[in-house]
Amino acid sequence: MALKHQTPMLDQLESGPWPSFVTGLKRLAESEDKPYADMMQDLLGQLEYSYTTRKGFWKGGTVGVRGYGAGIIPRFSEVASKFPESSEFHTLRVQPPAGMHYDTDTLRKMCDIWEEHGSGLIAFHGQSGDIMFQGSTTEGTQAAFDALNEIGFDLGGAGAGVRTSMSCVGGARCEQSCYNEQKAHRMIINSTLDDMHRPSLPYKFKFKFSGCANDCVNASHRSDFAVLGTWRDDMKVDQEAFKQYVAERGRKEINDQVINMCPTRALSMNDDDTLDVDNKSCVRCMHCINVLTKALSPGDDKGVTILLGGKRTLKIGDLMGSVIVPFKKLDTEEDFEELVELAESCIEFFAENALEHERIGEMVERIGLINFLDGVGLEVDPNMVTHPRTSSYVRTDDWDEEVAKWEARKGAVAAE
Ligand code: HEM
Ligand code: SF4
Ligand code: SF4
Repeated sequence: MALKHQTPMLDQLESGPWPSFVTGLKRLAESEDKPYADMMQDLLGQLEYSYTTRKGFWKGGTVGVRGYGAGIIPRFSEVASKFPESSEFHTLRVQPPAGMHYDTDTLRKMCDIWEEHGSGLIAFHGQSGDIMFQGSTTEGTQAAFDALNEIGFDLGGAGAGVRTSMSCVGGARCEQSCYNEQKAHRMIINSTLDDMHRPSLPYKFKFKFSGCANDCVNASHRSDFAVLGTWRDDMKVDQEAFKQYVAERGRKEINDQVINMCPTRALSMNDDDTLDVDNKSCVRCMHCINVLTKALSPGDDKGVTILLGGKRTLKIGDLMGSVIVPFKKLDTEEDFEELVELAESCIEFFAENALEHERIGEMVERIGLINFLDGVGLEVDPNMVTHPRTSSYVRTDDWDEEVAKWEARKGAVAAE
């Protein structure tokens, strides 16, 4: 049995007002009837040692499961002679179900599997979008994977490939949902799964799906390919409910919190306390709908906007996604298949044209948006301009021809 280590520095972390991860680790270490108790005891020892020496003692390595080139994050201890029981503490990244729904039976099974083969420590969910099963030996990694696979789960992404995807709870519970996020998520990931399990891209590539511009999974900031729900007809207004809000909260509050906060000044309150919406100016930001949920809701002609290139700082600073498809219907099987095809074209173009360790947003900056659009076969659209309302420059050469093309395109859409 591993020695119980003295952990004065860790103990101090438990004294604050919030629940501490140290308490959780100690509980696992003290579960002496469990196979992982010794491992967690030595893990606590190593963590205290790290705090004392102000150094980290974990290094990477190569651990995998059969048939997969990614999904396990190896951690080997550099002080295994002092803390032998936690000499290996690998993490399994496991893809959550689309929309992150579980039933309690599944959660219990996951806990049982991880109590048998791992450390008992699970994080729902990491910032990568995965369920993180943290802490197993090389042997335990394969056994845990086999058991998780048996109940229908698969490893997530790591390294230079397609990464684990996330979709908001959306249509399952949320009234703002503008498309079937779970279906789009599953279809795209099923078609790109090979690039997740056997990473061979220039760098990571993430898909994320939010049902509306509230963007609960932060798709526009954090994914290379973001699919956001929106609508193109008029927002729905229940004038009686709006009047009720005004009566309950007062005109000042509704003016201050809603009308004057609209980013495009598309709202105005009438003398009889009803609401005027200038739908042509509304950019579907969701603000007014979020505040006055009972009175306002998205329109009926729903679909998605697709953005490309969101990422954190790397070669260039943080980028939010740029619109590459201003509006797309996502109702029929055919619509979904077109979405998958676009996703595949983007991955293909990325694989062929990006430099090593370059995200697709950086690649587009380097080669120019026009060349990218050309490469994946998307038509340029004025709605792709980053700041349409603040740009005072327009090209007027070939104006008439461009107008004719635009009118023809609009005619074609209207005829659909
Ligand atoms: C004081 C203790 C620790 C702190 C504060 C800490 C903090 C963090 C944070 C903030 C993340 C990002 C989490 C996320 O994606 O949501 C992370 C990820 C990770 N940590 Fe730790 N960590 C600690 C101990 C450990 C230990 C002991 C190991 C293994 C030996 C470990 C291995 C990992 C791995 C593999 C990831 C990436 C997981 C993934 O995204 O799949 N960490 N850690
Ligand atoms: S992104 Fe929109 S649809 Fe999805 S959960 Fe959030 S508010 Fe609801
Ligand atoms: S959704 Fe946003 S842009 Fe549209 S009217 Fe409401 S606040 Fe204005």
